[in-house]
Amino acid sequence: IPGKTTYRGVNYHFQIIPDLDIDIANKWAVAPTDVLIATYPKSGTTWMGSLVHEILHDTTSRPHFQPFVEMNIGNRPCASSMSFNGFAHPRVFKTHLGYDFFEDKIQKECLKTIVVMRNPKDVLVSYYHMHKMKHLNSFPGSFHDFFDLFKHKELIFGDPFDSCAKWWQQRSSRNLMIVKYEDIIMDCTDVVRKIANFLGVPLTEKRISEIVQRGSFGAMKEAYTSFSGAIFSKAFFRKGVIGDWMNYFNDEEVEYINNMSKMYFDPIGLSFVDRP
Ligand code: A3P
Repeated sequence: IPGKTTYRGVNYHFQIIPDLDIDIANKWAVAPTDVLIATYPKSGTTWMGSLVHEILHDTTSRPHFQPFVEMNIGNRPCASSMSFNGFAHPRVFKTHLGYDFFEDKIQKECLKTIVVMRNPKDVLVSYYHMHKMKHLNSFPGSFHDFFDLFKHKELIFGDPFDSCAKWWQQRSSRNLMIVKYEDIIMDCTDVVRKIANFLGVPLTEKRISEIVQRGSFGAMKEAYTSFSGAIFSKAFFRKGVIGDWMNYFNDEEVEYINNMSKMYFDPIGLSFVDRP
């Protein structure tokens, strides 16, 4: 991959991600109401951003965007270029960086952090499709070529297994909440209730059901794709389901990734639903 660079053992790509600032966490003075949404790419970042925004702000205007801490996407300001100060409170930031970058912020500065994780099989399929999009250089290979990049730990933002395992090991931290994409799919109402509770926001039942309804795949797709932001094309809201990996993986890939789960996840008690 041309333009690839490595920082603390993780790959980043300056061609795909202009204005990447991986030292940014050091520049952030955390406010008590700040919220960070941390994910490996394609795990439901946008979905969670929208849910959290609507929990915190009693609003029905859309789309709304939360800046990434480390990168500037689609000409929207990222936290770095705004020095974190230009955003309305309570501020919601997103990141694809790993736990290491935010350890002090979470443990010492009490930064409330919501991590969304998704089963790595579906993450890889979704990430593959994202790489095929034009603004991400139209990855020319097949899913199997993309899987090879994953096997060789060449993917941007590193390995999904590493990322999930590191966050999961922090799950008992007081300011950290972990949500699985599959749980949002299966019971969004329950997830919204838990997040509101974690953030200390009282919500009426009516507001909860409104947030859930507005967070449905169809409603999100409609609201975000009618906006001209390049990244939120119809291709971005692709399927939004559990188990699409079954249409892509060959037997060797299934075996490889199941072994990865055994190695990384079984010992720490992390598991994912991967079928509808
Ligand atoms: P698919 O490519 O499998 O459809 P991220 O925001 O982290 O990039 O994640 C994008 C993935 O989340 C895409 O997965 C996208 O369709 C899915 N997604 C976005 N909004 C969703 C929603 N409201 N419900 C279910 N899935 C959603």
